[in-house]
Parts: sequence; C-alpha cells; structure tokens
Amino acid sequence: MNGLIDTLEGKVKAAFKAEGLDEDLGTVRRADRPDLADYQCNGALAAAKAAKTNPRALAERLVSHLPVDEVIAGVEIAGPGFINLKLTAAALATRAQEIAQDHRAGAETVEPRKVIIDFGGPNIAKPMHVGHLRSSIIGDSLQRLFRFLGDEVTSDIHMGDWGLPMGMLITELRREQPDLPYFNPQYDGDYPSHSPVTLEDLERMYPAAAAACKADEERATEARQLTADLQSGHPGYRALWQHFLAVTRQALDREFSDLGVSFSIWMGESDVDPLIGPMIQDLKDFGIVIEDQGAQVIPVAEPGEEPGLPPLILQKRDGGVLYGTTDLATIIDRARRFRPDLILYVVDQRQADHFKQVFRAAEKANIMAQSALEHIGFGTMNGTDGKPFKTRAGGVMKLHDLISQAKDKARERLHEGGLGAELSQDEFEDVAHKVAIAAIKFADLQNWRASNYIFDLDRFMTFEGKTGPYLLYQAVRAKALLRKANTTLEDAAKAAIAITEPAERDLVMLLDGFSDVLHGAYDKRAPHVLAEHVYGLAQAFSKFYAACPILQDPEKTPSRLALVAATLRQLTVGLDLLGLDIPDRM
Ligand code: ARG
Repeated sequence: MNGLIDTLEGKVKAAFKAEGLDEDLGTVRRADRPDLADYQCNGALAAAKAAKTNPRALAERLVSHLPVDEVIAGVEIAGPGFINLKLTAAALATRAQEIAQDHRAGAETVEPRKVIIDFGGPNIAKPMHVGHLRSSIIGDSLQRLFRFLGDEVTSDIHMGDWGLPMGMLITELRREQPDLPYFNPQYDGDYPSHSPVTLEDLERMYPAAAAACKADEERATEARQLTADLQSGHPGYRALWQHFLAVTRQALDREFSDLGVSFSIWMGESDVDPLIGPMIQDLKDFGIVIEDQGAQVIPVAEPGEEPGLPPLILQKRDGGVLYGTTDLATIIDRARRFRPDLILYVVDQRQADHFKQVFRAAEKANIMAQSALEHIGFGTMNGTDGKPFKTRAGGVMKLHDLISQAKDKARERLHEGGLGAELSQDEFEDVAHKVAIAAIKFADLQNWRASNYIFDLDRFMTFEGKTGPYLLYQAVRAKALLRKANTTLEDAAKAAIAITEPAERDLVMLLDGFSDVLHGAYDKRAPHVLAEHVYGLAQAFSKFYAACPILQDPEKTPSRLALVAATLRQLTVGLDLLGLDIPDRM
C-alpha cells in the first residue's frame, strides 16, 4: 500500500529522470501556501542553477511529464520555478478509505532485525528517580515503535544489582541486625524466607552506608571485602542479596505497571558476573589489554583524537571490576544469547563517554561492531527553576510520588473541566490515572530526546495545547461520535468516503504522512517525530470537527464518520506507540 506522497514523489522523480536530471531533486513536501497547492517541489531551481539554464523554462519541461491523472489534479509553476501540485479528491478518498480499514493505519513495516533495547536501568536500594523515568518513557516508546514496524525486540531492564553498593548495604545491615543468621559463620540451617529488610529500609540504609564508607577507610575496606565475598558465592550474603533483589523487584513491578512500561527480560549486572573472569583472561590472551598503574585497561583512544578518550578500565589494581567491565561482559552475553543486529542503550547523555569506551572496546575485542551498538542519550528533566528536578524539600523525587502528584492534578483538572462527571468512582480513577500518565509521558516525548526540558505539571496537565490530556480528549471525542452514531470503528470504516472540504483534505494528507513519520522516528530513534504527528493530527481532527458537520447532514454522515474512524484508528496506534492509553469516555 503506497502513500499518496510516495506516489506523487515517484511521478515527480520520474519527470526529473526523463529530463536527464538527478531524481533526488524531485522530492516533494507540503506546500507553503496550502491555499494554492497541496504539495510542492523546489528541485527545478537547484537543477537549473547547476545546468545554468532558466528555472521556469526547466520547470515547464518537467511539468510536461506530469499530466493530470487519477492522483494529480493539477500542476502549476509559481514564482521563479516552484512546481505546485494538487491531489485529486478521488485519490484522497481512496487513501482515507485504506487507512480507515487498515489495522496498521497506513504504516508500512521494515526489513525485520533483531534488536535489544536496554532501558530503565534502576538500581537496587536506590529509589527510581526522574532519570530512570526518562529512560523508561523513551525506551518504552522505542520498543513499541520498533516492534510495530516489524523488528524482533528484546527489552532488558539491566538492573544495577551488583558491585560495591551491595557490599555497602551488607555492612550496614550487619551493624543494624548483627544477630541475623546470615552473619553467623557457624550457621548451617536454611536461611529465613522472609526478608529482614523492607524497601524503605534499603532506601534509608544505602545512603547511610555510602556516607560511612566515604568518611571511613576501614568501613570502605569492609564493604569491598563483603562485596568480594558476595561475588565469590558466600551463601549467607547471597541469600541476603536475594532478599534485596526481591524486595526491590516488588516495588519496581508496581511502579512500571503504573507507568504502563514492560520489559521482555529482567536481567542485571549480576547475571554476567560469571563471565567476567574468563572475559578478562580472553581479552588478555587476545592482546588488547595493557597494564596501567596496576590496573588492567583497554586503550580506546583513536588516532588524532584530541583529547583522547581514556582507556576502558577492566579491572582495578585491587582486583575490583567496574561499570564498563560489566557492560562489556553484557555485550558478550547478549551476542551469544540473542545474536542481535543492533543494541540500543537508552541512558542519560552524561554517560556518553562510558558507552563510547565500551563500544570501542567491544569492537576491538571482536565482540560486536560499533555500528551495531548505539547510545540513545537523553537530556535532563529540570524543575521550573531550571535546575535538575528535585522535590520541594530538595531531595530526589521518587517516581511513585511523582505519579501520585500527577494523579491529584489530573483529578483536579477533570473536575474543573466538568469531565468524567457521569463516571463511576472506579472509572473516574482509571481516567485520572490515564490522564496523569499521558501528561507525564507526552511532556517528555514531545521534545527531541537530547534536549533538556522543564517539568511543569501545571502546564502539562491541561486539556488545551500540546499536551497528553489534549490528545486523549480528542481521541475520546472521536469515540463519543461513533457511539452517538450508534456504530463501531470497523463498521464506520466501511462507508464510501467523499472529500469535499479543505478541512477534510488537510486531515487526509496528514493521515497519509503517518508511515513516513514512523519511519523517520525509527531512523532517528526519536519519538518526538511521532509526537509531533499525533498532535498535528488531533488539531486537524478538531478543525474538521468544527468545519464539517458530521451527524447533522445525513448525506455526508457516513463519509465523515469513516474519516472519524480513520483518524481514531491512527490516533490510537500513534498514541499507543507513545505509551498513552485512551479512556473510552471522559
Ligand atoms: N543502572 C544505571 C544507572 O542508574 C543505568 C544502566 C544503563 N544500562 C547499561 N547497560 N549501562 O545509571
């Protein structure tokens, strides 16, 4: 199924070719003057310049290859040689019909690949904060998009569940509850199945332990020792660590389910621990490891690079391994397990150098090519004061608190707008939840991911303007229309469509662009491209609704309801790919 824009562009490119010119000059785009044309091509100007001929004359020759047909209603040359194109109403109608009846809403697929998306990345004992929130929102949208376009996607949360923080926690617990059997070397029974700590305990203990280790060298040594014991299989510490993991996992399950984000696998840093020893040995044998002040490192600076990227530290002088070591071992593990064509890491932009080091080392070690490893960096979410987002008290905002604040605001705004008044208490709560999540996610996804943005719930939580709630509202309006007409999306989509009004033309041209938009978002790994489209679509729908009576004119009703169906279909797919859930009513 070809989009109109592709068909049109195909014809214009053929005209350039027929004139012996570069086809690439035949690209078309939406007209600057929608009152005069639907699409325009500016390529004649560049072609004439290169050939040193008159652009208007050249445009005329090109136009002679573009007769009126079933798609082209008319071609005109404007100004110095712009080619203006108008589409036929029949072509627009046919395309709208296809989209209304297509469960993919007009989207083409890609050549499928195996893709791993690493996102989320929460850490044991540390509350998830807004950085993890951005990773989760962007990563989830990418996994939805990649899957929808046909890739085989494995998403991995890659838990921060290993290393020194675990040893630190154990030192703290040993002080708080020294009599636990985990610390008794003589103990040979089964360890308790009930966790000695709650999540709140862990969240309190970790900062305390970290501060103590920083202030006291002896305590730091103890933490390193306990970490080493844990990693080499000390049964008591392993049992404790399992509790830490389970307690954290329980809380995370709840938070991710509130967010509507899921992962195919929950692996973590700990899972590759057994691979690390052999990996270091292999890399040494392979000859890419050098010793640097007692540490084992892989140099990764490229010739002529100023300043050169520091080497990847595989193993410190004291034998400890670092974040980069685990990430390299994880690539080995993923390569073996999944044979991926591509791995995306949706992680804070500030970790860019880390990933560069790891990717270069992976290539040097013949594990995976750098071109198959991509860091999908993102900027910070700031508070209204322009500084990284904090709670009022200046602490790190927990995801759970953020969501409940957003829900409070959503309830308030729904009440103010007189929305959801007829809903049952449960339904209202469900709508408030969907509106809250939509506000948070869309506020994030509408920005190019590398930009910073200001988190301002007041601004995000309004039913007007470029917000998640506005988008849900328009989609709900479309649903309400179908309900009022006593029909379903599927049935409404069957009616013949006739395009007469400008608002209808605009709506269909937007619908037609969906596939290109998705592929653009996919290529750039940029959900904001899609966010922009759904916002434009919602606006076009709103204009159509205002300009074209839908249920009032029985002759036009079936066609217009079919347009409503096409729009709702595409809004539903588009919003779903952004992770937004549309309520049935509100
Ligand atoms: N746990 C890390 C953090 O909180 C993020 C992990 C990202 N993924 C990775 N493979 N390094 O910063």
